[in-house]
Formats: sequence, structure tokens, C-alpha cells
Amino acid sequence: MKNILVIGATGQIGSELTMELRKRYTDSNIVAGYIAGAEPVGRLKESGPYEITDVTDAEILDKVVKKYKIDTIYNLAALLSVVAESKPKLAWKIGIDGLWNVLDVAKDNNCAVFTPSSIGSFGIDTPHVNTPQDTIQRPRTMYGISKVTTELLSDYYYNKYGVDTRSVRFPGIISNVTPPGGGTTDYAVDIYYSAIKDEEFVCPIEKGTFMDMMYMPDALDAAINLMEADPAKLIHRNAFNVTSMSFDPEMIYNAIRQHMPDFKMRYQVDPLKQSIASSWPDSLDDSCARKEWGWNPNFNLESMTADMLEKLKIKFL
Ligand code: SER
Repeated sequence: MKNILVIGATGQIGSELTMELRKRYTDSNIVAGYIAGAEPVGRLKESGPYEITDVTDAEILDKVVKKYKIDTIYNLAALLSVVAESKPKLAWKIGIDGLWNVLDVAKDNNCAVFTPSSIGSFGIDTPHVNTPQDTIQRPRTMYGISKVTTELLSDYYYNKYGVDTRSVRFPGIISNVTPPGGGTTDYAVDIYYSAIKDEEFVCPIEKGTFMDMMYMPDALDAAINLMEADPAKLIHRNAFNVTSMSFDPEMIYNAIRQHMPDFKMRYQVDPLKQSIASSWPDSLDDSCARKEWGWNPNFNLESMTADMLEKLKIKFL
């Protein structure tokens, strides 16, 4: 990887991935792609190039890729699970029509492509505990449908045209720089913000609902390490199960209370979020990622909680 385009560079993952890539490579070789209305600000804007790159506009995409001689694209454009349920056609337009554009531009310009999949690509019929790498994927959400299609279309472009597509199924990503928006796992980010602001947390997910989660530094490693992996070792491509931890609301609440014993939480279950969460795995088996490209996360619930609270304290206090 030498010249990299991050599409969705001002989103939750993109804002940190762009900065991490600039740290690992050369600032001027990492282009932050954004859509109108979501311009980069601060260090993201000052530390390297930025360009409008709307996945629904193949011409602009092609122009940016040619201008910077891009060889690797991180395509992070998507609507998250809850918001995709209220705008299913837009979710498809961005997630799938947009992906066609990215893959075609990649084919024409010889780029590798990373487009994340998700735990949302699984559904109610999937084995929920220790969910295997290769198993039933029959999601009923538009987010899930678009993620299964992302996996299939990405594999199609690899098998048919030799485009170097690779991907992981991200669990809920917990971070403290840019908030997520419209996801089912967002509660596991919001709870830290409530704790640090000394507010009671109103939890939209029922006690006993387990989902896989990951702290952002591990998510960045997953994306970058997979794209740097030796292709000869990859049996799978789109997409690898990856996880760092699995917990329910009680567990994250108690982890925070280790640091803030007075922190309060009550439940007010959101039926849509709950039905989505209940359809997703409790815990993923990520042994293929470990074996094929050395996936090995650093953070668990305790170390993530300590770090999140420390970072948010600096941000807010
Ligand atoms: N964080 C995503 C969501 O909740 C799952 O991949 O929609």
C-alpha cells in the first residue's frame, strides 16, 4: 500500500483510520474522502489531502483515484443498522450501488479494496454462540442484506476480475473521537459518554443481550493488518469474523462502575434496536482470521473501559 483513499473519512471509523494510516505511511499519500456537508476539520484536514468522493458518483471517484495514483481504497461509506431500517433504499444506494462504483474504479485502476462487513450480516437462523466463519447468513435487516451482498459482490470481483478485495465482519466499534450514528451497538459507546458527563444512562438494549464488540485501536489494526497480509495465506477474503469481546449491558455497566461506583443505569428497551440485537450473534468464532493473517486484539472490556474513561475525561473535563 502506498497511495490510499479512505472513503467516509469523517465518519466514526474513517476519522481514526485516516489518521492512523497517515501515522504509519506518509501523510501526503493518504487521501481523506468525504461527502458534501461532512468536510474534514482540525488535524484530519490539516495533516493531508482531502477530496469529495461520493460513492454514488463514479466519475468523481475515478478522478480522485487517478489524481493521487491510488492503489488501495478503504470504502467505509454506509448507513448503520437502525437508520438503514428507516431509509432502506438509501442504504442500498450507498452500500451496494456505491460499492459497484468503487469496485469498477478499482478494477480499472488496479486498486485493492477493503469494504467492511458486519455482525449484521448474520440473522436469526445463524448459530448465535461461537458463530462460525462459514455459516447461515439470512439477515432480515436492510443493513444485513446490504452487508451480505457486499461480501458476495466483493468476492465476485476478486474471482472474476482479480480485484484484491478483502474484508472483516466488524462487531460494534467503541471509540471516543467521532461518535457512531444510527447503529444497534451505539449504546456501548453512549454509556461511556453518560458516565463521564455524570448522567444516568438509559439503556435501549435488554439485560442479557450479548453482542460482539471491539475497541477502535483493534479495529484499525484489523483493517490495516488484513490489507497488508500475505495474499497467499488467505483462504477467505470477504469477510473474516473478528472480535475482541462479547458482553451484555450489565457487564459494561459493571465495568464502568469499577471506576465510577455512583454511575446509574436504567432500562428503556427500544423495540427496533432490541429485535436487531437479538438477531445478531452472541459471540463470534474468529479463529480463521487468527490463523490466516494473525488477527490478535489487544483490548478486553476492562482495559478498554479504563482507556475510554481516561480519554473522555481529557475530552470533557
Ligand atoms: N455497529 C453496527 C450497527 O450497530 C454493527 O456493525 O449497526
